[in-house]
Amino acid sequence: MKRYHFFLLSLLMCGIVSAQTIRISTSKTDLVFRVGGDGRLYQSYLGSRLGGNGDFDHLAAGPEAYVTHGMEDYFEPALEVRQSDGRSSLLLKYKEHSVATLSDGVTETAITLADEVYPVTVCLHFTAYERDNIIRASTEISNTGKGRKAPVMTLCRYASSMLHLDAASYELTEFSGDWAEEAKMTSAPLTFGKKVLDTKLGTRANMFTPPMFIVSLDGKADEHSGTAVLGTLGWTGNFRFTFEVTQTGSLRIISGINPYFSERALKGGETFTTPDFFFTLTSTGLGDASRDFHRWARDYQLYQGHEERYTLLNNWEATYFSFDEERLVHLMDNAADMGVDLFLLDDGWFGNKFPRSSDRQGLGDWEETHDKLPGGVARLTQAASEKGIRFGIWVEPEMVNPKSELYEKHPDWVIHQPEVRDEYYFRNQLVLDLSNPAVQDYVFGVIDRLMTDYPDIAFMKWDCNSPITNIWSPYLKEKQTQLYVDYVHGLYSVLERINAKYPKLRMMLCSGGSGRIDYKALSYFTEFWASDNTNPIDRLFIQYGYSFFYPARAVCAHVTSWNRNASIKFRTDVASMGKLGFDIRFSELAENDQEYIRQAVKNWKRLSYVIADGDQYRLFSPYDGPHAATQFVSTNGDKSVLFAFDVHPAAYDRTRPLRLEGLDPVADYTVEEINLMPGSRSSLRGNGQTFSGRYLMTVGLPVFTSSELRSRVIEITRK
Ligand code: GLA
Repeated sequence: MKRYHFFLLSLLMCGIVSAQTIRISTSKTDLVFRVGGDGRLYQSYLGSRLGGNGDFDHLAAGPEAYVTHGMEDYFEPALEVRQSDGRSSLLLKYKEHSVATLSDGVTETAITLADEVYPVTVCLHFTAYERDNIIRASTEISNTGKGRKAPVMTLCRYASSMLHLDAASYELTEFSGDWAEEAKMTSAPLTFGKKVLDTKLGTRANMFTPPMFIVSLDGKADEHSGTAVLGTLGWTGNFRFTFEVTQTGSLRIISGINPYFSERALKGGETFTTPDFFFTLTSTGLGDASRDFHRWARDYQLYQGHEERYTLLNNWEATYFSFDEERLVHLMDNAADMGVDLFLLDDGWFGNKFPRSSDRQGLGDWEETHDKLPGGVARLTQAASEKGIRFGIWVEPEMVNPKSELYEKHPDWVIHQPEVRDEYYFRNQLVLDLSNPAVQDYVFGVIDRLMTDYPDIAFMKWDCNSPITNIWSPYLKEKQTQLYVDYVHGLYSVLERINAKYPKLRMMLCSGGSGRIDYKALSYFTEFWASDNTNPIDRLFIQYGYSFFYPARAVCAHVTSWNRNASIKFRTDVASMGKLGFDIRFSELAENDQEYIRQAVKNWKRLSYVIADGDQYRLFSPYDGPHAATQFVSTNGDKSVLFAFDVHPAAYDRTRPLRLEGLDPVADYTVEEINLMPGSRSSLRGNGQTFSGRYLMTVGLPVFTSSELRSRVIEITRK
């Protein structure tokens, strides 16, 4: 939303500047382009911020900035356009550039390049967020042919961004995995040749790898030192990152939509705009880079980036599909007793001809199941409000079970190939064809109907389980290769309508776990479900992985029954590092555990301005085990919260005090362990005492123990 506002402002402030050197700067980074004597655009520099403009005169011109297919370059291009005459040559020359101030400290530079033979214009956009050291890059490709008879060209590949780096060595950290084991971090050197990270899932960016990466330059960056580029693509579909080291040892990183089966026609007068690629370049380690991303996301990208987040009780694991009104109302009593803000009704509430009593049927028929919920959703929102909590509901409106009235009525709305292939089901379901405007209206209508009939719905969990399989759009006919991209555009258009009509509605992005995590989707959603895996030990790793790009307020973390060897306290403490929720049978817990949860919820709400909005410090990586620790510091510096975990230390584990970060060295702080089990006392040495910030950051606190599955939450208050 904010972006469009800035854009209007930019039109007012925009001025065309002509120069041979184009500098895009943040507080810490310079990206410098130069127009060569041949009129082409070169990237002279990408690195830590340099001095005055005079410095740039010393730089070599560098490689061509946005390499096109079919010319003199021998490595992977950023752009390939097939002209109507069958040639795929494109030679781009600098035309002009403009710099506009979008808002205080946010500048947009647009560099226009054009071919002198074919009617192609390419505009490279860079938005620099000065304070946060984030750059957003995207590309507009236009067919400038005029009139109805203008030749149609074909976009074969169309990267959002191409970056060139020059270092002695490169190390790529990727985040890969599978369902329930998301965002596992592994690192490997990049040497000559190509490494590609991509997905072809259609409806979601991620199942095996989310669209994010870290490339360390000149040795592996760690939390406090080293140079690295952290990049992520804002695209909720097939993406591709190509990392290619050339024979001279330079690295190019090409980021954008995956060109796999995605050629698209561009008619005269049409422009295709790529998704945004967001990156930061740090020379002071990964901790600073993540904090920059988090702050930037809260201020500019995340939907409702500063509003209060709702703690919640979800019924999925407590009931699965077996519930009725009475059971749900009982769970709402639990939610009120726990002190959470909201009750979230999950899957299983809809379908009449084919009631959604399992995941085999009913998807698509978004009417309450009459015999299960005779009072409908109205009775539930009313019950919630009587108990002083809010109400949220699960939807998966892009999907359909073949056993559903929707499928019976609209087989033409489904992505499948009934004439030639058997249907292939992923979780017994198929994907609706969102390239079709009628389907977009239907999907919008699902939400619109719910919100119109039940305006008290405060929250939705929007799921998306199936990737696109047996790809064929009945709607797109001969333009099948547009489906992957048009699907995502169709989704965005639905989400825009929802946000515009229901701006207060908060939505969680879920896709069989974290299948849909990207910063474009998160401009419509307030948060995402990080994984169906809620085993707290695994969650330490998953939440750690996502913390490199996403702030805690966006990461939904629920306490469930996964891994009952871990205490309720341990499970809750892990979940308290994200947006806290529960998916548990509260009334079956021991009284002590119940009381613990009540206190932990109160503490989370009291401290959410630190956890959800503060700066995050990864003090001890779970990968370095057998412990893990994360600290949050409020933006005004008055408060800090430290989470420390002993996972499975050996009996002889020699623990050392843990040094804190982000405090004021000359201020005094009191240290108090919170989230204690009822009736127990803290055994932390120094608990209740006062320390200087310098002491806490130099000597530290002895928070770790050699006990297994033990956790501590420590509140640190500035005096
Ligand atoms: C997906 C989600 C779960 C739950 C189920 C419901 O698997 O990840 O959290 O909502 O769907 O069917």
